Amino acid sequence: MRVAVLGATGATGRLLVDELVRRGHTVVALTRAPDPAGPEAVTWVAGDARDPGALSALVDGADAVVSALGPRRGDGTLHREVAPLLVTALREAGVRRFVGVSGAGVDVPGDRKSRRDRVVSALLQRLGGQTVRDKALERETWAASDLDWTLVRAPRLVDGPPTGRVEHSAGCSPRRTSIPRADLAAFLADLAGRPDYLRQAPLVAGR
Ligand SMILES: NC(=O)c1ccc[n+]([C@@H]2O[C@H](COP(=O)([O-])OP(=O)(O)OC[C@H]3O[C@@H](n4cnc5c(N)ncnc54)[C@H](OP(=O)(O)O)[C@@H]3O)[C@@H](O)[C@H]2O)c1
Repeated sequence: MRVAVLGATGATGRLLVDELVRRGHTVVALTRAPDPAGPEAVTWVAGDARDPGALSALVDGADAVVSALGPRRGDGTLHREVAPLLVTALREAGVRRFVGVSGAGVDVPGDRKSRRDRVVSALLQRLGGQTVRDKALERETWAASDLDWTLVRAPRLVDGPPTGRVEHSAGCSPRRTSIPRADLAAFLADLAGRPDYLRQAPLVAGR
């Protein structure tokens, strides 16, 4: 597959790119860096995620788009602003599949979160500033689109080696409250090539 990646220079995105290349996919990735580090096989598209022209160039000819985009320096409107631009870019390019990273603090209609996670989500929504709100608005944009989106609701991300095991569910809380970034990256790569959790926001955690 040809997979377009956003957030490819981030902590999760770098692992995602490595994983996609390892699986033999052609990877095209957006970057703001003049000289980004990454596997030689990656084709870099220069630009900001808020630039519609850069997004069009990125997704042109892609089979799937995967985002590990995340806010830098308190950017509390990144996701709500980029999501509609991405929806437009995907529709214009005729690309249907989008997989992104959301947060476990986001609530979705039909959720059956545990009491523990309901409390944590309520606290995050109240005290977490713009970030949780931003991801909720991002989800609403994708939900209003007719595309094949999946937003993976991740808990606390941790570094370290992959375990190779991810617990996931459409709306039930996983047992653990963290996930290694490497396992999240592998799960995102799985979803890029599979029609699982279409138009859903699964909760995930490491095992
Ligand atoms: N940290 C946690 O515990 C946690 C928990 C749940 C969910 N998440 C979410 O998981 C995702 C990945 O997190 P992470 O820690 O791996 O991310 P990260 O290291 O902060 O990386 C963020 C990526 O987004 C890119 N980016 C930000 N603004 C951009 C813009 N305007 N244009 C183009 N690229 C832009 C950055 O590019 P530059 O290198 O150019 O800055 C970088 O590649 C994020 O959405 C985060 O909110 C995190």
